[in-house]
Amino acid sequence: MITIQVRDIKSAPLEKGVTALFVEQDTLDTPLLREIAKIYFPHLLHAMAEQKFSGKLGSSFVLPIVHEQAIAHILFIGLGKRGQNGMISVEQYRRAVGYAVRTAEQYRWSSLQMRLPFAQNFGITDAQLAEYTVIALKMAHYYFDEFITDPMRKFHVTNFTLIPEGHDVAALEQGMKTGRAIAHGVNQCRRWIDLPPAYLTPVELATVAQKIAKAQGLSYTVFGEQEINEMGMGGLAAVSRGSARDCQFVIMEYHCGKKNAPTLGFVGKGITFDSGGLSIKPAEYMENMKDDMSGAAAVIASMEVLAQLKPSVNIVAFAPLAENIPSDKATKPGDIATFYNGKTAEIKNTDAEGRLILADALSYAEKHYTLDCIVDLATLTGACAHALGPFYSGLMSFDDELVARLQKASEQSGDKLWRLPLDDDYRPAIKSPIADIQNIGSKRYMAGTITAALFLSNFVEKTPWAHIDIAGTAFNVPDLPYYRPEGATGVGVRLLVALAMNWQ
Ligand code: BES
Ligand code: MG
Ligand code: ZN
Repeated sequence: MITIQVRDIKSAPLEKGVTALFVEQDTLDTPLLREIAKIYFPHLLHAMAEQKFSGKLGSSFVLPIVHEQAIAHILFIGLGKRGQNGMISVEQYRRAVGYAVRTAEQYRWSSLQMRLPFAQNFGITDAQLAEYTVIALKMAHYYFDEFITDPMRKFHVTNFTLIPEGHDVAALEQGMKTGRAIAHGVNQCRRWIDLPPAYLTPVELATVAQKIAKAQGLSYTVFGEQEINEMGMGGLAAVSRGSARDCQFVIMEYHCGKKNAPTLGFVGKGITFDSGGLSIKPAEYMENMKDDMSGAAAVIASMEVLAQLKPSVNIVAFAPLAENIPSDKATKPGDIATFYNGKTAEIKNTDAEGRLILADALSYAEKHYTLDCIVDLATLTGACAHALGPFYSGLMSFDDELVARLQKASEQSGDKLWRLPLDDDYRPAIKSPIADIQNIGSKRYMAGTITAALFLSNFVEKTPWAHIDIAGTAFNVPDLPYYRPEGATGVGVRLLVALAMNWQ
């Protein structure tokens, strides 16, 4: 359990437990620090200088203090420097919050109170400050220890208290509420991804989505493997054929209740395990392939969040779910799939399965809904992880307006995006001599992330559409203190929520 309360500075003095204070780099000589020095330790600034603590982002300084014979701690957390715009970035603040949580864990402090910095330092409102603080705290606090039995390895901070100082407390409460909903969504998403593939199968993830839909009043539709075959979703069916576990196609809908409201479509790749199929992956490449449903997890979790935040747009989420595994029934290289929109593709490599299931989902979305945009999220290509590494997801779109909206949502939310060219010059790479297209690009064109996106573009004819490749960002992202270095990040949830909340 984690409780976050807002408590006034008077009822939560520094002498109790652990209090984190955020300090700006190279500006340690402030009235507050002087006052702390005066009360607790006159040599504070000297001691900081001696330990080379300057307030750099990623650094901290612990001051043990004694009050009425009890030991308490003041934890100074570096925020780093202001940028060119004269502000400390929200991302610096998120990381500083992450470092505070990590420090508390290292010291095994079970509760942590934090003095909230002033929102103006970051160019945001008090409500946003509270929202971003709660999200960073809860994301940093996330852990996946369901399968760990050693209690010594299960230590967690259990109480977080936020202490305002001249903030608008009503705005803080409002922002915390939003932050709680978003953080819960992100962490749920991470848990589904972190669950082993034997626990989180296509049917299991569909069931989770159904429970969420029921609890949040969303409409829910699911098609099973037989219906998927009958409907002519030949891509999803082809990928699932080798597996004994049934594939699923999940649709969740949020209706805002306003007339003529725009409708956004979210699509997420949901391969609950990607062995590569008959084009089997080498062992090392398969290790983390339980994460191949990260896109689906993100869109399902976003729906849970948005059902609570209630934006003035309708949203439809589509999640094609399957397991990609070989057997005597499995699809073979050389097979041809016919998709929901009637197009055909030669399956030259069964490991390029994500685009096959997305093709059907995108076709279905376009045929049955009138959408103002479609955004798909997919752990689609290793090439994207190579090109951009773990910090930026690849963004591809023909629609500059949708890109601008996504970039704004990206800057606000912290889910970073980098646009790659979706240029028709690459299109010949996926021409097939015997079908409409083929599911891998010919070698001469390289650019596997772009040719994968161009494959998908065959299944979106009329809707502004953006494809986001999260292969590098969904799992095992190093160095970010509000993530864990191992495991799922929940990338995409904050982004989609911001996109929908800003749409208007
Ligand atoms: N799920 C993988 C992509 C992936 C790779 C995700 C690394 C996360 C980390 C995808 O299904 C895949 O196997 N793609 C192939 C495509 C290739 C055969 C054209 C790849 O990237 O190697
Ligand atoms: Mg694959
Ligand atoms: Zn895959």
